[in-house]
Amino acid sequence: MLWLKAFHVVFVVTWFAGLFYLPRLFVYHTAAADAVGRERFVVMERRLFALMTLGGALAVAFGISMVAAAPAYLGFLWLRVKLALVAALVVYHLWCYKLLSDLRDGRNRHSQRWFRVFNEVPGLLLLAIVILAVVKP
Ligand code: HEM
Repeated sequence: MLWLKAFHVVFVVTWFAGLFYLPRLFVYHTAAADAVGRERFVVMERRLFALMTLGGALAVAFGISMVAAAPAYLGFLWLRVKLALVAALVVYHLWCYKLLSDLRDGRNRHSQRWFRVFNEVPGLLLLAIVILAVVKP
């Protein structure tokens, strides 16, 4: 169980590196004025998204494997609330893919300021999820 938890936390960190940095790239991408600069952001965003998808999938897989190893976890309210917030995080992740595609295809309608606000969401979810997982209120 401790091994599963260790890898769970490792992949959570990998996932969040992307969840924090990708929307930052969107901010810089929106500000880029030249075609070469924009094309570079498209490549960086695509690669980062691939890595963070792998991190997120493994974080969720190790989380599920802990619940499978000890189904009693599902009886705890903190875990159920955490799962609801994780679902929100997955929606955010998929939303990032939509924004990435729109930027790539020149269909972006959002301002730099909007991306800055969007960038704050994973931090808030991280705070809530870690408090639930560690403090177990
Ligand atoms: C389907 C998704 C997930 C499942 C099923 C899951 C499940 C679990 C379980 C069963 C534990 C062990 C709790 C314990 O015994 O102390 C755990 C620990 C932990 N989880 Fe998750 N988790 C998921 C996603 C996440 C995400 C997205 C984050 C971060 C945002 C996260 C952060 C943590 C942390 C920090 C711990 C360590 C808690 C401790 O050491 O006390 N988990 N998770």
